[in-house]
Amino acid sequence: MPQTAVGQPSVSAFHAEQKPPYAGTLNPDMNDNLHQLRCFGCGARVEGAKSSPDFRCSLCGDLFEVEYPGWVERKGHDRPNPGALKWLWRERRCSSEALDNSGVWRFRELLPILESFGDAVTLREGNTPLYHLPRASKALGIDQLYAKHQGMNPTGSFKDTGMTSALSVAKERGFEWVACASTGNTSASMAAYAARAGMRSLVLIPDGKIAWGKLAQAMDYGAVTCQLKTDFDGCMKILTKVVKEARIYLLNSVNPYRLEGQKTPAFEIAEAFDWNVPDHLIVPGGNLGNSSALGKGFREMRELGLVGRLPRISVIQAAGANPLVRSMADNRGATLEPVEAHTRATAIRIGNPASWRKAARVIQETDGWCLDVTEAEIAIAKAELGSEGLGCEPASAVTLAGLKKLRARGAVASGETVVLVLTGHTLKDADYTIDFHRGTLLTDEEKVGNEALIESLRRNAIVVEATPEAVLATIKGRVQ
Ligand code: F0G
Repeated sequence: MPQTAVGQPSVSAFHAEQKPPYAGTLNPDMNDNLHQLRCFGCGARVEGAKSSPDFRCSLCGDLFEVEYPGWVERKGHDRPNPGALKWLWRERRCSSEALDNSGVWRFRELLPILESFGDAVTLREGNTPLYHLPRASKALGIDQLYAKHQGMNPTGSFKDTGMTSALSVAKERGFEWVACASTGNTSASMAAYAARAGMRSLVLIPDGKIAWGKLAQAMDYGAVTCQLKTDFDGCMKILTKVVKEARIYLLNSVNPYRLEGQKTPAFEIAEAFDWNVPDHLIVPGGNLGNSSALGKGFREMRELGLVGRLPRISVIQAAGANPLVRSMADNRGATLEPVEAHTRATAIRIGNPASWRKAARVIQETDGWCLDVTEAEIAIAKAELGSEGLGCEPASAVTLAGLKKLRARGAVASGETVVLVLTGHTLKDADYTIDFHRGTLLTDEEKVGNEALIESLRRNAIVVEATPEAVLATIKGRVQ
């Protein structure tokens, strides 16, 4: 079966010429391809295809958001029927069509960004598992604690949900080249989707500060991979200039179509709770596209009457890469001072996040928290998640580390339903995990106060003689 959905509308897709039997109840007009880009800063509006190549407003320099004017204009009985939409989205999971199998495109009524959904490039992203965390629940005294594991996407990170949407736009608009600056996951994802679409991809990554698993993916999927002697923020600056010089489509999360795909895990989470949103969602913060996208997803669901309220959305950063935490503490997110970023959680080693204004709004409108966690706290939380059978990247583990801090402060009640968004797969950065278990990851200074806990979580490999007796001797005393 082809991985790329070409041409054929699925049984349940909405096409004017091919209305499904339930079209009347669902209001197919909702699928009109009527979107525009609205500047987050000054409110200026441009047509989707007319934004500048760096996706910055020509009037004020801020970023755009995709907006669907039809949703606002239609009121009362002309609004989509929430019950019918929910039924349709669930039904699509049983369809054999590629588009319906995608956890992004099965919600396509809420992201009508393509002229034709036949242009969608999909690797069957999304539909990721929501796991209960029994041990962390018990340790923290929170019954309803879950992890939405976005590392279970086709290239091992949440980026796939946004890549399918934005790269499909690039393909539909006739681009041959796509590009991104990346701490690793965006490049892995972009390279894979570009390869599926038969497009070329250009990757700019910081030299030496990227996990091997991610670099390996970009190479394998055929990207032109440039390691630049600068950090992520430097790569981003250079790429912004490159896309103004050549016809190359920028696929970083400044591209508002990325966020359209990345908002869909919010729909999946709501669906998993039978459309009762959890009390609290905790997200790692790097370039801050993901928190912005999830916030948009929940906001739109509420506007369309699919859910009754918003969850509190909190953003956690690494202490060495915490520009948003500082901004929120200093001036409630009015201005942001870039920092020189340092953290072993290389995915979020970002000092000048592009989407900080959007993320600040999400935190404010949902009454969320924004805090940072230390290198030791990240490593401990990652090992704790590992011991639940749920590996993740260090950048993802900031969520559990942040929750522990919030719980200790009394900011999260025991009766709350909490969802941690785990953004990347554990195999992306195996070096980090091995260094932790070998005891070489953290310095003595970083470990202070946590030495015993760290020792209790370490599981180093043991060199054993090649005999059954020697193997049995290693588990003696541990077997009941
Ligand atoms: N977690 C992981 C595993 C990531 O790869 C990233 C970002 C984040 C969290 C932060 O998400 O930027 O939306 O706030 N990685 C980007 C990249 C920057 O290039 O792969 P964010």
